[in-house]
Amino acid sequence: IPVDPFDLVIFGGTGDLAQRKILPGLFRRFVAGQMPAESRVIGAARTELDSAGYREMVVEAIREFGGDFTYTDKQLKDFLGRIEYTPIDALGDAGWADLQELMKGKGRTEAYYFSVSPALFGELAERLQQWGMADRDARIVVEKPFGRDLESAHALNATLATYFNEDQIYRIDHYLGKETVQNLMAVRFGNMLFEPLWNAQFIDHIQITVAETVGVGGRGEYYDKAGAMRDMVQNHLMQLLCLIAMEPPARFAPDAVRDEKLKVIRALDPVLPHHIVRGQYLAETGNEEKMPSYREAVGAPRSRTESFVALKTHISNWRWAGTPFYLRTGKRLSARSSEITVVFKETPHSIFGEDAGRHRNVLSIRLQPNEGITLGVTIKEPGPGGMRLIDVPLDMSFAEALGQDAEQVDAYERLIMDVMRGNQTLFMRGDEVEAAWAWTDPIIQGWEARNDVPKPYDSGSAGPDYANELMRRDGREWREVTP
Ligand code: BG6
Repeated sequence: IPVDPFDLVIFGGTGDLAQRKILPGLFRRFVAGQMPAESRVIGAARTELDSAGYREMVVEAIREFGGDFTYTDKQLKDFLGRIEYTPIDALGDAGWADLQELMKGKGRTEAYYFSVSPALFGELAERLQQWGMADRDARIVVEKPFGRDLESAHALNATLATYFNEDQIYRIDHYLGKETVQNLMAVRFGNMLFEPLWNAQFIDHIQITVAETVGVGGRGEYYDKAGAMRDMVQNHLMQLLCLIAMEPPARFAPDAVRDEKLKVIRALDPVLPHHIVRGQYLAETGNEEKMPSYREAVGAPRSRTESFVALKTHISNWRWAGTPFYLRTGKRLSARSSEITVVFKETPHSIFGEDAGRHRNVLSIRLQPNEGITLGVTIKEPGPGGMRLIDVPLDMSFAEALGQDAEQVDAYERLIMDVMRGNQTLFMRGDEVEAAWAWTDPIIQGWEARNDVPKPYDSGSAGPDYANELMRRDGREWREVTP
């Protein structure tokens, strides 16, 4: 779908996210011919820079984070011709007149990306309005963390609502921009095969794993106040859970989809304390350049923040009553691997006798890396040995099936283009974010009230063994975390 010419102002335009994701992503869309030539990208931040200096930074960012894709010098030059910069003070008046001047005489789609601390969201919104830039058709893009609990998220929503309507606010959860996450909806609602079986009658349980090999890196200060529950579960894992569990929306349209997701979150059971395991990684051993432990990394020797969470929950509705959902995420695990696994029930009876065993289908949807979908099916083991059954994968790796031509679009690229198209389907609505906090708040409050200490786990492992115990107790097991 073509995009009209736009002006995108990036507050926090010199920041980490702008350099890693937003600017290289915009350039890739530009090279792909999706960013109309008249569009402009305007960096705005506290740093005193002129547009020429900013363009140099943009070139560096593209070189370092652009990934390997080919472009010509002319394309880069043309893109830079679309870039401006203006220093700005979110808390004062400095720079606003210049920005206002830049944005004058438009007739283009206007979007403001708040790539800054949420503490500044309100200030920015207010100033945009003061300086006449918060028109009815302007769009604002906000990043997580969207609050740190229900109360703060509610306050943030209320502040933004003072200046903007809900249909102007694009709350990013970059997991929704990932190719396979959208494919999840295509698989569920574009095939007849799965949906009739997609319920507690046929599905034994569902697992969602988002495993990372990285540690907290240089983000210790933010992360130690957040922890895996706030950083990953409340948003990315909840979104995956919603998409896998929601009722079919009538249309692939913003409110139709978001209404269904909201119903899932509201139907989630509270998590019982013995259905959740928190972990914290230890230092790497045996390696010369040993990676620090979580506590060393955040510089807090007694930190009780979790870098790992595994939990079991239920969705109390007709479709899912009786099917547990197991969620797991952590840092410094054995492999980077995000996967949703749907484990079907065993066949009710084996016509091949007890020796042949009872079998179950497993559908695994791999988000990253090596995106693809695998369905485990049971077949006869080849050979003369009688009716022996084995489980084999019916595999569909996207790279193989679609060839090298399949265009790789980063989550941010896709989402930014959706902002310009005015399509909110892949963005979180305010009530959705609040409902997600309403579910996570009591879990976090419970830990705080009990002074809960996370279980230590080895770097490069699959997390604390307690997480395996959570499954074993139910006679189930986690899928292996494989690269
Ligand atoms: C971010 C979290 O939202 O998602 C990070 O703040 C995490 O802690 C990241 O590492 C994971 O994203 P991805 O796309 O690498 O899976």
